Amino acid sequence: MKSWSDIGFEIEITGDQSPSLRLLQAVDPLKDRGESMHHSGGACAETLLIYGEPIRKILENIERPHFLIVGLGLGYIELVIAREALLQGKSAGQVGLITSYESVPELREFFFKWLHEDVAGLSEEVSQVYDLVLAHVSKGTNLLPQDLKTFLRTHFKSLNDIRQELSSSVSLESKYHGILYDAFSSKTSPFLWEEEFLAKLLREGAEEHCLVSTYACKGSLKRALKSEGFEVVVREGFQGKRNSTLGVKKLP
Ligand SMILES: C[S@@+](CC[C@H](N)C(=O)[O-])C[C@H]1O[C@@H](n2cnc3c(N)ncnc32)[C@H](O)[C@@H]1O
Repeated sequence: MKSWSDIGFEIEITGDQSPSLRLLQAVDPLKDRGESMHHSGGACAETLLIYGEPIRKILENIERPHFLIVGLGLGYIELVIAREALLQGKSAGQVGLITSYESVPELREFFFKWLHEDVAGLSEEVSQVYDLVLAHVSKGTNLLPQDLKTFLRTHFKSLNDIRQELSSSVSLESKYHGILYDAFSSKTSPFLWEEEFLAKLLREGAEEHCLVSTYACKGSLKRALKSEGFEVVVREGFQGKRNSTLGVKKLP
């Protein structure tokens, strides 16, 4: 049974005690480790700040909203969608669609198996990390952690419901009210931050009413958002990190 190091990652416990994954291999030959999926100050706290607020707003304003997530990783954003929907008293059926993209096959498989309680197919080290992610996302609410899993099981019924690599030739299955753009940085995943690619994604993937949120604040992203009719709001980053970006298109 594979664990994190077998698939090129190591676990990092961040400042709020929630886990993140770091790439074992750096793109930069001068560095001994690669990029981490989250801010060292708090993986869960960062996700709640950058993605939680827009998710809440979309759920409040749009009936049966569609969400697109770029970078499933450990599944924080998906669990935050479940958390915010349940906190608003909404069932899984009241969220129209959750489409997540993830290029690492094992990250798709691990998350899917954990969600569906396929414990025999998962190493203990792996399932413990997802349990910890879930505990952090549920913390401070009166929700039962299990309810968040049940919620997402409705959306990810089969492994193929978690999409593979997002590529420049992608043909999206829907338009989205929430685009939660959590790719690795342009050093690790250059094409995901190219203006032309981002503009195409927004043109083809954004609903008439749409919020785009990301931890990043790149010129290419801001230009793509503006060219596709979004108002660009520069938000404060998490714990002094460079600013983050919110794109707003006609949200009621
Ligand atoms: C910053 S991490 C995402 C963290 C994640 N949202 C979470 O909640 O844990 C970026 C993720 O994007 C994935 N990724 C990299 N290139 C990708 C691509 N072209 N399409 C989809 N996912 C990609 C990485 O494997 C990694 O899991």
